[in-house]
Amino acid sequence: MRVPGDDEIRRLHERCAPTPEAFALVYAHCAIVCAVAEQLMARRDDVDAALVRAGCLLHDLGVYRLFTASGELDHARYIRHGVLGHEMLAELGFAETLCRFCSRHTGVGLTAADVRDQGLPLPPGDYLAETPEERLVMYADKFHTKTRPPAFVAPETAAASLHRFGPAKVAAFTALRADFGDPDLPALQAHYGHALV
Ligand SMILES: [Fe+2]
Repeated sequence: MRVPGDDEIRRLHERCAPTPEAFALVYAHCAIVCAVAEQLMARRDDVDAALVRAGCLLHDLGVYRLFTASGELDHARYIRHGVLGHEMLAELGFAETLCRFCSRHTGVGLTAADVRDQGLPLPPGDYLAETPEERLVMYADKFHTKTRPPAFVAPETAAASLHRFGPAKVAAFTALRADFGDPDLPALQAHYGHALV
């Protein structure tokens, strides 16, 4: 499988972004998620680092399809960004392994029951991170948010935000935390200048 490098992925973002502002918001977030994952990968040797980098940098590509004509994000359909990114990459000929980073990073994983019970605007099915690389990309994504202004998210804040989705989601995050550990967010804050919430 061919895994695209950082420069190729950056050009892809530039091509897909509807505005320079959308590019700045989404690409910076993807790069920060990649930096979080790099920290976590440095502690272990059982993940494919090039694949994780590509997964982090690609995971939110579908967000570009959710900007309205006035440049705002369509929050009502935001949950679709994963499947939209998967579709975009598949149309461009990327391998399924890469497409899945888009459709398998939402929350701590969506089950077919979540889709049904919450009435989510997604095709029926499970959207779960399965490989170590998919799990790491999904986990790293929980520590930064594309709010305006963007911010880093403390592990406790990320856990608390999952409470409304039920104890199984909190337990899934706790298991990820035990597996990968907490990132050093202050070090990244100092570099990127984003607040920690
Ligand atoms: Fe993300």
